[in-house]
Formats: sequence, structure tokens, C-alpha cells
Amino acid sequence: MTVQNLTEPVDSGAIQAGADQTAPVSNRPCSVAIDGPAGAGKSSIAKAAAKRFGFIYVDTGAIYRTVGLAAQRAGIPPEEAASVEAILPGLQIAFDYGADGTQRMILNGEDVSGLIRTPEISRYASAVAAVPAVRAFLLGLQRDMAQKCSVVMDGRDIGTVVLPDAGLKIFLTASVEQRAMRRFRELRQKGDASTYEQVLADMIARDELDTTRAAAPLRAADDAVPVDTSELTLDESVDRICGLIADRFGIAEGSANAADCGAGRDA
Ligand code: DC
Repeated sequence: MTVQNLTEPVDSGAIQAGADQTAPVSNRPCSVAIDGPAGAGKSSIAKAAAKRFGFIYVDTGAIYRTVGLAAQRAGIPPEEAASVEAILPGLQIAFDYGADGTQRMILNGEDVSGLIRTPEISRYASAVAAVPAVRAFLLGLQRDMAQKCSVVMDGRDIGTVVLPDAGLKIFLTASVEQRAMRRFRELRQKGDASTYEQVLADMIARDELDTTRAAAPLRAADDAVPVDTSELTLDESVDRICGLIADRFGIAEGSANAADCGAGRDA
């Protein structure tokens, strides 16, 4: 089941890229925005918390990674904003959810979920994410998801730009060394040969790019709750976030049903 197809016409019920960017974000179900730097544990924590409450987990980094992959395949230097912008109209980007809530990314009909998780595509993603046209292209898609479903959405600008009225905003951090070590272990498990020093250098470079870019730089929203996961295990981090969600919305775990929003059904 395709949740979104960016190149479908608007009247088909799908989201046209770049459309509806100023739509109000009121009258929507529960929205939890989780922002923070790479490797802070956002995706594992957000995914587990979403599952406990029956919310949809939206990994917005994966969407930027998919655009990064498209730029890499087109042979475009990702810093060349005009060239990146030129490929956007030809991109069909969709995502859907497996029975376990895993988000799958589809680029022009191909499942690219695994291909976008390489260090090279991390660099492409960070660079294309600095292009304002790319951010504008993806904004409506992200907001539409939160208008229809209760979501835990993670990224860099969710609390500041995408969902400024989110009921709960969390800024997740950890020391850069901890984040690099976690990412290094993940990559090694997948057979990637990068050294810890390379992963650390990449992490520092991405932090710099993500926080200093002009378009929607990574920063905590004024009303975000800071959570530092440096000294927390994954389970402790998830418990902390779930406690915040339960308190903020006055709800119990399992109170929503992600299947109502299309997750957990077969494609
Ligand atoms: O979370 P991630 O590492 O998968 O994200 C990949 C890149 O995408 C990251 O370097 C910054 C960018 N990104 C962004 O600019 N805004 C978002 N909401 C999510 C990711």
C-alpha cells in the first residue's frame, strides 16, 4: 500500500510535492516531534515509542536519503542546488509500512530502503537537505501524514518547521563520541568496513552541515523537552519518551491503532 506518491495529481487524493505548505496543522491527532543530531538514537527510540502507543513512526531522514540517492544516481554533485532542484519533478517517492511498522522507501517503483543506509548516501542526504527547494518539496508530504494519523515523527526541523504545533516536542542529544560509536557498531553489523575514526569525522561534518545551513537548520524548538541519551540504554530512553507522551497527552499505551492509518497492512 502506497501512502504517498509525490507525482500523483492532487485530486487523486495523494500529495503533490510542494503543495499545501501553508495548510493549518490544527484538528489533527496526537503529534510527537523528535529532533536531534545524527546517531542520538532518534529512529530506534521513536519507532519503539510509536509502537507502544499505536502511533505511526515517520522517519523523515529516510525521505531526504531517498532524494540523496536519486541525486547520486543522476551523477549530480549534491551541493549544486540548481541541479538537484532540476531532478525533483521527475522523482516518484513513496513510502509504506510493513506489519512491524517498518517504513519502506520506494523510489520510482523500486524499494530502496536498504540502499539509502550507506555512509555515502548519508553525505548526499545531508547535502540535498540543505537545498531549500528540496525542503519545500517534502514539507506537504510530512505534514499530511501528521494531519491524518497520530505520529511520532523524527528529523531535524520537525518541532521548528514541519509541525510547529506538535503536542509534544523532544530534542534528543548524546555526545558526538557516543553517537559515532553507536553508528559505527550499526555499520559494522551490516558489514560496512568504515573505521570508528571515519564515522566520527563524518558525524562531525554532518553535525556542522545540519546545524549551520541556512534552510531549517537543526536546532531545538523553544518549547522542546531536552533528553540526553548518552548515559541511557535504548530501553531507558524509550521509557523516558513514553512517559513524556503519556503525561503530555493523558493517554495510555496502545490507545491508538496504527492500522487505521495504513500501517501494518500488506502492500
Ligand atoms: O536522520 P538521518 O541521518 O537519516 O537524516 C539524513 C540527513 O537528512 C541528515 O543529515 C539531515 C537531513 N534531514 C533533514 O535535514 N531534516 C529532516 N527532517 C530529516 C533529515
